[in-house]
Amino acid sequence: MNCNLFITFEGPEGAGKTTIIKKIAERLAQENIDVLATREPGGIEIAEKIRTIILNPEHTAMDERTEALLYAAARSQHYFEKVRPALDAGKMVICDRFIDSSLAYQGYARGIGVDEVLSINEFAIGKKLPDLTILFDISPEVGLARIHAHGDREVNRLDVESLAFHQKVREGYLQLVKRYPERIRVVNADQSMEHVVEDVWAIVYKAMQ
Ligand SMILES: Nc1ncnc2c1ncn2[C@@H]1O[C@H](COP(=O)(O)OP(=O)(O)O)[C@@H](O)[C@H]1O
Ligand SMILES: [Mg+2]
Repeated sequence: MNCNLFITFEGPEGAGKTTIIKKIAERLAQENIDVLATREPGGIEIAEKIRTIILNPEHTAMDERTEALLYAAARSQHYFEKVRPALDAGKMVICDRFIDSSLAYQGYARGIGVDEVLSINEFAIGKKLPDLTILFDISPEVGLARIHAHGDREVNRLDVESLAFHQKVREGYLQLVKRYPERIRVVNADQSMEHVVEDVWAIVYKAMQ
């Protein structure tokens, strides 16, 4: 069994990534798999500071290139300080959002260009992409309704974007599935948590074989 994998969870806000990643991490630990669950910026001080600049609701003037570069900068720091060392130590790493978020949000939805954003991210982290990416697919209406219904975290600058923007993000993700059919697996996130966990677990388990 190959447990030394880098797996990323992707999809819009409210899709259930954070909820499900915890459950998958617990299940992996039960199977005695040495797992690091993280998310960008992952408690890495430099990356945390960069992220507060990106998400500050006052920064309405932020240029989309600035946003893309800041995400890539934060990603680089988190990757080299936390993710890479864990992978080198033989662990499984599961990460809540990674490069595909930038490709879908900045590259596709903001219109900078997926290839352009990919190139700055390749500079940031090197050319190796995750071994497996699980895309939590859900309509923006359902995802955003979950966030507003639960109010379990502050609404950030990206949440208040128009519904049209969030629809473009979804389209962007689905384009990435066509581009990386081997790497990205789609899960229907508009199901009960139990069903989503089972679908994700089946994909992760298969990847380990
Ligand atoms: N499958 C699901 N069905 C209903 N509600 C869910 C489901 N998955 C997550 N939630 C709830 O939706 C909200 C957003 O989930 P979260 O895991 O934070 O999403 P994300 O990390 O993708 O933004 C949380 O309150 C969570 O409890
Ligand atoms: Mg989350």
